[in-house]
Amino acid sequence: MSRILITSALPYINGIKHLGTLAGSMLPADVYARFQRARGRETLYICATDEHGTPTELAAAELGQDPASFCAEQHRVQHDLGRAFGLSCDHFGRSSSPQNHRLTQRFAQTLWEAGFIEERVTQQVYSNADKRFLPDRYVIGTCPHCGYEAARGDQCENCTRVLDPADLLKPRSAVSGSEDIEIRGSKHLFLRQSLFAGKLRQWIEAKRSSWPNLVTSIALKWLDEGLQDRGITRDLEWGVPVNAFEWGPNPEGKTPDIEGLAGKVFYVWFDAPIEYIAATWEWAEARAQEAGRGPAQDAEWERWWRGEEASDVTYVEFMGKDNVPFHTVGFPCTLIGVNERLAADGTWTTVEARPWKLVDQLKGFNWLDYYGGKFSTSLKRGVFMDHALELLPADYWRWWITANTPETSDATFTWEQFQAQVNADLADVLGNFVNRILKFTENRFDGVVPEGGEPGPLEARLEDEVLAKLRELTGHLEDREFRKASTALRQLWVLGNQYLTEAAPWTAIKTDRDRAAVAVRYGLNLVALFAKVSEPFIPFAAEKIALAVGEGFPGRWPALDGEGLLRTLEPGRRVQAPEVLFRKVEDAQVAEWVARFGGAEAA
Ligand code: 2FM
Ligand code: ZN
Repeated sequence: MSRILITSALPYINGIKHLGTLAGSMLPADVYARFQRARGRETLYICATDEHGTPTELAAAELGQDPASFCAEQHRVQHDLGRAFGLSCDHFGRSSSPQNHRLTQRFAQTLWEAGFIEERVTQQVYSNADKRFLPDRYVIGTCPHCGYEAARGDQCENCTRVLDPADLLKPRSAVSGSEDIEIRGSKHLFLRQSLFAGKLRQWIEAKRSSWPNLVTSIALKWLDEGLQDRGITRDLEWGVPVNAFEWGPNPEGKTPDIEGLAGKVFYVWFDAPIEYIAATWEWAEARAQEAGRGPAQDAEWERWWRGEEASDVTYVEFMGKDNVPFHTVGFPCTLIGVNERLAADGTWTTVEARPWKLVDQLKGFNWLDYYGGKFSTSLKRGVFMDHALELLPADYWRWWITANTPETSDATFTWEQFQAQVNADLADVLGNFVNRILKFTENRFDGVVPEGGEPGPLEARLEDEVLAKLRELTGHLEDREFRKASTALRQLWVLGNQYLTEAAPWTAIKTDRDRAAVAVRYGLNLVALFAKVSEPFIPFAAEKIALAVGEGFPGRWPALDGEGLLRTLEPGRRVQAPEVLFRKVEDAQVAEWVARFGGAEAA
């Protein structure tokens, strides 16, 4: 049986994430990881904070903190919120970890020595007042096309034209507002992505039938437009330092310009995906420490990522559509590059005996927006993870988001639709079913799974229908089709309610106790089944449901051959109705939340 390696796009360190970020990476990754574990597969789900880059430096400075302590604090906040949302990653790492420093530097060195990195001098804006180079979007000025006075150096927000900082009239620093800026040359490293175009195209073409169309079309569009070589270093302090002094000559015999590259760090998009691997190393290290062993052996984390040992691993990535180019072009170039060597005469040779693994399945998502407008971290528009948990337990959010996963198109969050759906699905269908059958068992069968009676045609039909739905649900989860999976799960819950209504043990008990016993027994078995198959979606409620019928948690995913599907609870077992599983969201609450977070007018 294959092992499953799962990564979700690494959330930026600055700012608490909104529901859109959850919807487009971490939550589906979690649902999938929980499902695979329940199926009995060895599963490793890795996530981390993405900590480097100018926004981090500026956010820390704004709070009067140094980037290292800012990141340490924010990492804890995001870690704790993730846990509170039930995100079950095996390790929530940090792209600033020593492991990522080591691995990023090692990969860069390998790429240089293999001939895939070259040096170039680029012209950049330097702010004398801020004593730093400014990335394009931190230079602001007047747009030469439309006259907008706060146009950014990469793009004018007003007329949307793409700009170069040199185009701006009256350019100034976005950091300090100072106009004392100048253009300076600076030495940088470029990953020669253009050389990889052919290999990447072949790879993506081969994925066309198994990856979502959204993903392959974005990747092919990038390739069609022509791959540009990419600057992978920056003039910043906070990041992984460029260790060029350790590097040997490239295939042409050239050694790097150590002086020119001194004091630079790698570009955040170069080191962030490498953190997927480095976080696996962090995970192995943490486990070794917990077990009271010394440093982890490389083999403990490399078995997920490289060589023959990883040949039974299926690697699945989850991300929003904006991240797709970096994962279908940038990161693959790094990984292919470290396995190869480009001779001075232009020939490629695979030199790595234990090649690093490329992604097998890439699931990309459209946007979840807020009343048709963007969720915005900087404008604080929409619902963020911390506020969400102040309002309602995690399962309400998990359910709604998963049921509305932006798979085939963008999806929109509105309070009204959220209220309607969680009330209908969670309170009226699932909660009501579990409550009805357990209360009845307590009242009429002393809270014990009853024996007696023989299942009849109603039960035979129920078993057939449940099995068919279960297979459907399982198939959709295997295919990472989360909307369809949610629909199948809801239909499974509905089957439970329909059965109870038809079997009507409350009527039967008046004349035929055995008949009522059969209905109750089947009803309770459905409860046990629902706990297992709902766990990936709503783990907190699923645990309560499992405990109510005396089942271990988390249980194993039911077998798909139907064997004993609704006969897992032995007669005589004690059961107990749980506290109310889902309270309905009231109109008054919705009114309050719309007032607090914005409603239709927010768009
Ligand atoms: O877009 C983002 O939120 C990035 N922080 C995702 C990084 S994914 C990976 F490459 F690290
Ligand atoms: Zn403009």
